[in-house]
Amino acid sequence: MIITTDNAFILQTPATTYILRRTNHGHLEHIYYGPSIPDITPQDIESLAHKRTAQAGTTVAYTQEDLTYSLDRIPLEWSGIGKGDYRFSPAEICMPDGGYISDFIYKSHNTGDGTLPIKGLPTAKGHNAKHLKITLKDTSTELYLTLIYTVFQNSNVITRRAIIENRDTPPAKLRRMLSMMLDMPNQDFHITTFAGDWAKEAHRNTRPLQPGMFVNESRTGASSNKHNPGVFIAESIATQESGQVYGFNLVYSGNHFSFVELNSHGLVRIGMGISPHCFEWPLNQGEKFETPEVAMTVSDQGYNGASQNFHDFINTNIILKEWQAKPRPVLYNSWEPCFFNFNEGSLLKLARQAKSLGMELFVLDDGWFGARNSDNAGLGDYEINRKKFPRGLKPFADRLRAMGLEFGIWFEPEMVNPDSELYRTHPEYAVEMPSRHSTMGRNQLVLDLCNPKVRDYIVDNITSILDETGATYVKWDMNRHISEFYSPHAPAGTFFHKYILGLYEILERIFHPRPHILLESCSSGGNRFDLGMLCFSPQIWTSDCTDPIERLNIQGGLSHLYPPSTMGAHVSDAPHQQTLRDTPLSTRFNVASFGVLGYELDLRHLSKMERREIAEQVAFYKAHRQAFQYGTFSRLESPKDNKVTWQVWDGKKAISGLFQTMAKVSENPDILRFKSFHPKKRYRVSTRPQRLFIKRFGGLVKHILPVNLNPSGIILNLANRLHALTDCVETYEASGAALAHGIALSNQFMGSHYNENTRLLGDYGSNLYVATSI
Ligand code: DGJ
Repeated sequence: MIITTDNAFILQTPATTYILRRTNHGHLEHIYYGPSIPDITPQDIESLAHKRTAQAGTTVAYTQEDLTYSLDRIPLEWSGIGKGDYRFSPAEICMPDGGYISDFIYKSHNTGDGTLPIKGLPTAKGHNAKHLKITLKDTSTELYLTLIYTVFQNSNVITRRAIIENRDTPPAKLRRMLSMMLDMPNQDFHITTFAGDWAKEAHRNTRPLQPGMFVNESRTGASSNKHNPGVFIAESIATQESGQVYGFNLVYSGNHFSFVELNSHGLVRIGMGISPHCFEWPLNQGEKFETPEVAMTVSDQGYNGASQNFHDFINTNIILKEWQAKPRPVLYNSWEPCFFNFNEGSLLKLARQAKSLGMELFVLDDGWFGARNSDNAGLGDYEINRKKFPRGLKPFADRLRAMGLEFGIWFEPEMVNPDSELYRTHPEYAVEMPSRHSTMGRNQLVLDLCNPKVRDYIVDNITSILDETGATYVKWDMNRHISEFYSPHAPAGTFFHKYILGLYEILERIFHPRPHILLESCSSGGNRFDLGMLCFSPQIWTSDCTDPIERLNIQGGLSHLYPPSTMGAHVSDAPHQQTLRDTPLSTRFNVASFGVLGYELDLRHLSKMERREIAEQVAFYKAHRQAFQYGTFSRLESPKDNKVTWQVWDGKKAISGLFQTMAKVSENPDILRFKSFHPKKRYRVSTRPQRLFIKRFGGLVKHILPVNLNPSGIILNLANRLHALTDCVETYEASGAALAHGIALSNQFMGSHYNENTRLLGDYGSNLYVATSI
């Protein structure tokens, strides 16, 4: 709901309120953003507003008629440069009058239903949205600034963006043009960001806000695995489950920038948008520049509350309509089991096994085209490799379908290997700076998406393969950061943004006419995990690291911003490819189940027991798929530093994962809590049965077997393939109130006694618990 009064604008979602107003001088003053305040009166606004009853020393007064009106001390919705506000401005513009001074003053506003599209950029969508458009004008030039606020009734999210337009004759030049800024009084805030690198994406970092400016930025050409665009600021006392938390995220996949500045008057400014790094955008008479949208939320229910607002928003306003709430298939991916070494026959064998274990989609990953037998060659070419597929791809896809599996295919459309037919024929398609040597990433160059011919080449080749093979899933990869960014098709300073506009155009042209295709975006894992890509691809390959213990950080970090339905999560082999960590098969599944499940381990060497275990995992996941993919996801606080607890809740049942990182000797009792239940209703909780493989216990099995076996001998190895122990299964009945307090689980193994009620977790052990109402 949007309410406008004489000089104020009140934006209401079910649980949040946002208020701004026009000052006497026409600036937009920020009044309040926080948990819902119903029935707001002018007195409320007056009481909430920041006071300026005294003049502060060394401030610059905007007008001699009111010496207390200093822009440096006013919480604002937008601030220019050079009029006494010394905080960081969201825009740095070389103005038509030749200076950098800008001062945007209210001109007009209007409100309307629905969302407003942005030319060339994806946006959130939804019928239940309302928008407010406020137009401001620079006091001395014909530069107009339009601020757009969109209120999403269903998800407690408000989005903001800005449009700048030059109606003046002399040209202007944008050197920085962010999407939004917002000032608030500091409430002992902490800043949380999600940083990492390849295979260690989105680790959560929290630090106190100090005077000065904190920046979270990507300069790689993508939103990056180094710094995810999402940022939270929260009261220092906020936990996962309590306290006031603000979240901000950008609907954009390129270089991003956000800042949080604490100034000398105790005001915090947050701004977000396209990175100003090597950005310079000419704005001639009649031209507009539209910035990407920022999604904002606030919750007094801790980080979980803010995350759940974002999750609802993404599931209903970002994800394509065709894929909203739609069950995502359990997939099998050929990459880790085969890399480049496969042919039609070996893949069909894997596919048969995948099908027999319950999987639904077979994804043919890298290596099916051109001379792509390693990562040195072939990217950019779309000829099917006839050594691997003598009959082409269609017969292979048909065989999968005949087996009852869907066919999915991998592309890396934005790249070219110098050793490829494409590069030999069209070297000008690659992003290179003619006067400099080209630096490589994974032996490849980036294609120049600013060039319309390159865009056509990609669209034509991909669509013909999709249409010929009938693929229903695409994995869209992008495996290097951009360097030597230069294009004859994009004036210096416009390259990075034009590249992303080119990417969005390609995605739109390929997938808009083919909405039945499930797109999974990937960029060496989560190097482009952002709301922009999610507008096209309902799920993203979260990370090349599938080690479940590392995934607790990665999925746990990303879950602050993105729902489980968006995170590809696969079970792979152990010891793990990147960490060499040996983890139980059960834990690999238990972690992956809090995402979109897939398998990427080599099915050829599984034992009978492992096969059974996997078939049961897949069946369990399918039975609870809606809860895992679309349930309300929470990270529960744990008093222990070696435990992580996640929960999904679908309104009827909850599934909780209790993960142990490192085991402790004589571990104290573990408490399992459930959130969201009705306090008076009664629930039954039971452990998902899972197998304990004998090999995990080596020589210790002598304590439970009547015979003393050689831990590395043939008999134990054989026994491990044919037999497994059953992990302790617990069942409890309790009220919702008791479960919120927490139930004490059976003891873990403490070194001296074992029976079937002993939980054998060790390092990296875990269990899933299902709670249903009785
Ligand atoms: C990087 C991806 O993240 C992997 O899953 C795989 O698709 C490889 N690229 C293939 O080259």
